[in-house]
Amino acid sequence: MKQFTSVHDVTDINALVAEALQLKQDPYAFLQLGKNKTIGLVFLNPSLRTRMSTQKAALNLGMNAMVLNIDKEGWALELQDGAVMNGTSVEHVREAAAVLGQYVDLLGVRSFPGLTDREEDYSEAIFNKFVEYCGVPVISLESATRHPLQSLADLITITELKTVARPKVVLTWAPHIKPLPQAVPNSFAEWMCRADVDFVITHPEGYELSKEFTLGATITHNQDEALATADFVYVKNWSAYEPYGEMPGLDNYNNWMLTNDKLISSNNAKVMHCLPVRRNLELSDEILNGPHSIVIHEAGNRVWAAQAVLKQLLENLENQ
Ligand code: CP
Repeated sequence: MKQFTSVHDVTDINALVAEALQLKQDPYAFLQLGKNKTIGLVFLNPSLRTRMSTQKAALNLGMNAMVLNIDKEGWALELQDGAVMNGTSVEHVREAAAVLGQYVDLLGVRSFPGLTDREEDYSEAIFNKFVEYCGVPVISLESATRHPLQSLADLITITELKTVARPKVVLTWAPHIKPLPQAVPNSFAEWMCRADVDFVITHPEGYELSKEFTLGATITHNQDEALATADFVYVKNWSAYEPYGEMPGLDNYNNWMLTNDKLISSNNAKVMHCLPVRRNLELSDEILNGPHSIVIHEAGNRVWAAQAVLKQLLENLENQ
């Protein structure tokens, strides 16, 4: 693997999941692989899980890990080419990314979308500037349109906990108070469409995801129908792709929050969420505190997802 920005960078997702599960059994088996290698983790937006799990994964491989919360601790970045920098921005991303590349062997970057300009967000304008200028392999820590480390952890979790060979996996929209990116559902859909699962997406009218991520999925506006016989239910809010970044008809959709009652027709479904989650808005207390929830297990698997990816990137560096 040369970089990790989407599922398209992975040759064999099943082999990657198997590798992650092996690392879970023996976390320190490759402590020598990362010796004298450094990863930089750059966050333009907040994080708990991605930051800590990727750092832990790097340490398990013997790497040094350096974190920069560039939004809070760094110079204010200029992202536009050709800008006359006579305003608040102090350093251009061209220099910032290139300098970071001088200090690290691998660079992780988190850059959320602005949710106002769809073309800019879906071209990954910010993330791709880091890729272009840093000169080292890049790992997505969640970009404007994708969160592949999360999706890999989700697939690891499903593989580990499934009780049938080909489980039914349902991605269901949930209410929220503010517009959220489409990165997690886009990415989850993209990975599930390549996995050996029966994949269904359910959401209210107006919340269709971009087709490039959902090809092969069954899509329905009927949540009850989708949840019937589900083995896994993945709960997530997202804002609309069209009109971009908006929340059409939100007041009508409070009943989309998942409850135990809604799971009666499921196959005793396990409930997933990438976290952080807003209790009793996106997901009820009764689900999160009850036996259906596997959200903590899922978050734990973020370490093994990151470790499997870093291992493959380090092996590629070694072979260069
Ligand atoms: N799921 C996830 O990416 O969590 P953080 O935003 O806390 O990293």
